[in-house]
Formats: sequence, C-alpha cells, structure tokens
Amino acid sequence: MCGIVGYIGKRDVAPLLLEGLQRLEYRGYDSAGIVIAGKSGGFKAVKAKGRVRELEARVPKRFAGTTGIAHTRWATHGAPSDVNAHPHLDTEGKVAVVHNGIVDNASELRAKLEADGAVFASETDSEVITHLIARSQAASLEEKVREALRVIEGTYGIAVMHADFPDRIVAARNGSPVVLGIGEKEMFVASDVAALISHTRQVVTLDDGEMATLKADDFRTYTTSGTRTTATPETVEWEAASYDMGGHDTYMHKEICEQPDAVDRVLRGRIDDKFSTVHLGGLNLDAREARGIRRVKILGCGTSYHAGMIGASLVEGLARIPADSEPASEFRYRNPVVDPDTLYIAVSQSGETYDVLAAVQELKRKGARVLGVVNVVGSAIARETDGGVYVHAGPEVCVVSTKCFTNTVVAFALLALHLGRIRDLSVADGKRIIEGLRALPEQIQEILAQEEDIKKLAAEYAEAKSMMFIGRVRGYPVALEASLKLKEISYIHAEAYPASELKHGPLALIEPAMPTVAIVPDDSLLEKNRAAMEEIKARSGRILAVAHREQEKADHTILVPKNEDELDPILMGIPLQLLAYHTALALGRDIDKPRNLAKSVTVE
Ligand code: F6R
Repeated sequence: MCGIVGYIGKRDVAPLLLEGLQRLEYRGYDSAGIVIAGKSGGFKAVKAKGRVRELEARVPKRFAGTTGIAHTRWATHGAPSDVNAHPHLDTEGKVAVVHNGIVDNASELRAKLEADGAVFASETDSEVITHLIARSQAASLEEKVREALRVIEGTYGIAVMHADFPDRIVAARNGSPVVLGIGEKEMFVASDVAALISHTRQVVTLDDGEMATLKADDFRTYTTSGTRTTATPETVEWEAASYDMGGHDTYMHKEICEQPDAVDRVLRGRIDDKFSTVHLGGLNLDAREARGIRRVKILGCGTSYHAGMIGASLVEGLARIPADSEPASEFRYRNPVVDPDTLYIAVSQSGETYDVLAAVQELKRKGARVLGVVNVVGSAIARETDGGVYVHAGPEVCVVSTKCFTNTVVAFALLALHLGRIRDLSVADGKRIIEGLRALPEQIQEILAQEEDIKKLAAEYAEAKSMMFIGRVRGYPVALEASLKLKEISYIHAEAYPASELKHGPLALIEPAMPTVAIVPDDSLLEKNRAAMEEIKARSGRILAVAHREQEKADHTILVPKNEDELDPILMGIPLQLLAYHTALALGRDIDKPRNLAKSVTVE
C-alpha cells in the first residue's frame, strides 16, 4: 500500500526512480510523484494523478540530479489528485517527504501548525510531517526528523530530503516497511525490495523505531532516540527476473502458471521419507510442546484467511487438534480469550498486513505463542512471530493472490502433517499424504493444460451479473476464495455459501440469470453435493461444477485430477483462478491492478 523509492549516488536519478516506481506500482496506483535535488541546489518536483506512466510523461527531459525520492500512492486521507500525491514539500520548498502509513493525530497537528502560520497544499495526513521537519530548529536533519516523529502518533515509513543537507536522505520506520539497498558508492531506500533489486541485492531492513542516514558512500542506522544500531546487509533471496512478466500478458497469468514450480519449492528439502513426516526448520516448537497444543487458531485476512480455513481443516484432520481460522481484522476487537495451550498462527503473503500484525502484537502482549505462515522473508510478521513456515512462492506482484494462496495451503499441509506425526497420525497416513503432496505439481500442470476450455466457459459466464459459489466442508473455503477472486478482478457480484445452507435462504436468489459454481469432490459428501445441485436445477439455475468426474446435473464440468481427500481443495481452487482471470479478461478489466485495491494493506 503506497510505495517509496529513493536514491543517492552518482547516477542520473530520475530514470532510476521512475523504474523503481513502476516496480512498486502494485502497492498503490492512484497518483505518483518525484522530487530530485537539482544540480544547482533546490528541489525539482513533479506529481501526477493516475499511473506512473502519467508521471513519466510529465517529467521534463532536462530533469538532472543524483539524489531523489519518489512515491506511488493509494489514497487514504484526501482523494487521488496531483496535490495530494507525495512527495510533500514545505512552503519554502526546502523539505521533501514521502510517507507510507497513517498519522492518526494529523488533524490536531495540522490545526496547531496552521495556527502557527504553516500553509498546507494538500489534504493529506502526511504533509504534517513535512511542516514539522521544516519548523524544527534542530541543528541536524536527523534531529529535525526525530523531533517531528516524537509528536506523531500512528504508523510511518518515511524518506526525507532537505535542501540544507544535500549529502543525505534520512529514513525512518514505525509500522510501514523500509529497506535500504546498499550499492557501490550509491544507496537506495524503498518500501519493498522490488524497487531496488535490479541494482543491488544487499539490503538492510529497518526495524520499527529505527532510522537511517544514507549518504552516497555510507549509511548508518540508529533508534529514534539516537542510539546507534548495528545493521549487517543481507542478500535478497529472490532474483530480479522474478519481478518481470516473463512473456505473459499479466502478472496474474504468470503467477497462476508458476504454481507447479512454486509448490515444488515449498516442498523442497522438507520431506522426511524415513519417518513419513516433514522437517520445518524455523518452527521453534519441539515435540513435547507440539503434543501440549490443545487448540490451533489461525488468523489472516482475505485470501490468507481462506487459506487459513483450509489450513485449519488440515490441522484438525491430520493432527486431530481442534482448529479454526478467523479474520485477523475482527479477532483483536472482540477481546478474545487468549489461552496458553492454544497455538496461534498468523498467515500473510506480504507479512505486512496491518490487521494481522496488530493481532500478533496483541497476542504476544498477552503471552501467547504465535507462529507465522508468511511468504516475504524478513517481513514484519515474520519478524514479530516466534517461528513459522515460509511459503516460498516467490514474489507475487499481481494485486490478487493466486500462487501464494496455493503455497500457503501446501505449507499448512506440511505443518499439519508434522503435528500429526508427532501426535497420532499413522506412518501409513503420513506416507499417503506425502505421496499426495508429491503429486501436486504435475496435477496442477494438468489443470493448467485445460486453460483454453476454461477460457471458453469464462466467455459464457462473463455475461452474468451475479454468481453463486457453493461447497461443503473442505469445499466451502474453495468456494469462498473462488468468489473473492471473481469479484476482485471481474467486478461481478459473487456470493459463497456452504452448499448445505442453500435451502436456508440463498436458494431464493437462484434463477437462470444467476449461475452457480459448485465444488463437487469425489469424497464422502458427493451425494450431498449432488442433492444441492438438484435443488438448483429444480429452480432452473445454471451450474458449472468443478469435480473429479462428469456431473450430470451440471451444465458444464471442469474435471480436476483426484488427490487425497485432504489435499483436494488445493487442486479444486486452481481452475477457478483461471475462470476468474478469463472472465475479467473477457470484460476488459485491468487485471493486475483492480479498482480500489492495492497489495499489502499496511493501514487499518
Ligand atoms: C485477495 C488478496 C487479499 C489479501 C489480503 C491479505 O486476492 O490478495 O485478500 O489476501 O489483503 O494480504 P496478506 O496475505 O499479504 O496478509
């Protein structure tokens, strides 16, 4: 949500920053801006409502400089517009600030600053930071920033330039990620490694409460109270090429197609055939502790919450530990009872989602043990949890999640198998699940091979104004996730219900204009699912089934290969990612950047 990139060095800064913004655009894309320190002193700024390409078109040919900061925005305070775009400059044009996060006490600070003569240009909360820094009488830029941060309540990741201190950029973090990129006589600052990875893979991730001063040939980090901290650069695991579209028309398509490899990666090096179990290096949970767990509570948002629902059924099924998944955004507001024998698991692709992070912090404050199932290594949630499982999906750039959903569910299958084999899951069942897991990449490939047929179905269903998704027990989270995918990128209204609940109300909606997608695995509930389809057919509803064998009651069936019952949900979701994709494509939607959405929701 919002992207920051900054550079100080010897190279021409504008093209570097614009390239960085392009790579960050998935984090927010309603406006963008850039400020550079001109060669003859003073700042030059350009801002534009809309996409980064709009900004690029406005940047003049002669826009030379070697230090600058830039931002791509996802509006929270103040509508998307040129003036509300960052960087924000003070009235004299000496201070420039880019900010991710929310200043909670912005109105109060703004009133005080205005009473003191400050003239605001924008409606944003972020601009107060600029004026606070501009008004500080402190001798150094670091101290000016520190003074400003002392009065700010809320979250921030910021980068600051000051015309009186042209040799540096100062950055600070509290709740919104900031990474430093360490180059050869050049330094980068960004909200996400995506912006700098094509220039350096040596990065330092700031902790909350940490600040940094970047000069072309040096950097130092310290706390917001001024104490020096040690920061050893780490090498980013992901390759720069994994951020490219790789010949696909959209990131979503690329990421759907990457799933066989991604699943292979999450399994790699973790399976132990000797004991029919898996090794999960970073779990920090010994066998005795694992046996003492009485409940598992999984917390996530959106797609990650849905992945957590399947995760809960895997944990309950394989480890026989009562488990459930709850939206993290609701959890912390209901004053939950925190039980010492419950294992809490936070799920997040980005590892940054504020609602999940806040739930983790609340749980830790109450003494709970919290693990993370996270994709981004070193992210806030990965750092805040006591241990966990990385899902190794590689960078996910499309705003809507596909490969991370699949890999997260596979990671849960690994965790459930691990817990199960410590408890009462037999060797034979362990083997059965391992074989099922090993079969997944090839089976996903088989599903992807049906893309042309799914595309034809999508053309037919794209006319619908509304769609129903149904599934039972393990199939229900698949229905929920598939309906979310469809609505996010096609903007078709979609509802998801347990098939068993149809007759308790939603059946009233069924008519020829409201098609239903039914998840119909070949398991003990097959007949129940068929009965639900009968109910729909009796009301002249159209049905698209996702099943292991042709379904008579359905108008169309997408066939998926059968795996173990517990692992079937992983496969059944995949054709529905393609269905959502081709439906959105048929409707001409902006698939990678759906309206009103952004990747990584780092605000509440
Ligand atoms: C939907 C989607 C979102 C995210 C949610 C949580 O396609 O991507 O629903 O799943 O915002 O994000 P993470 O997993 O980064 O915590």
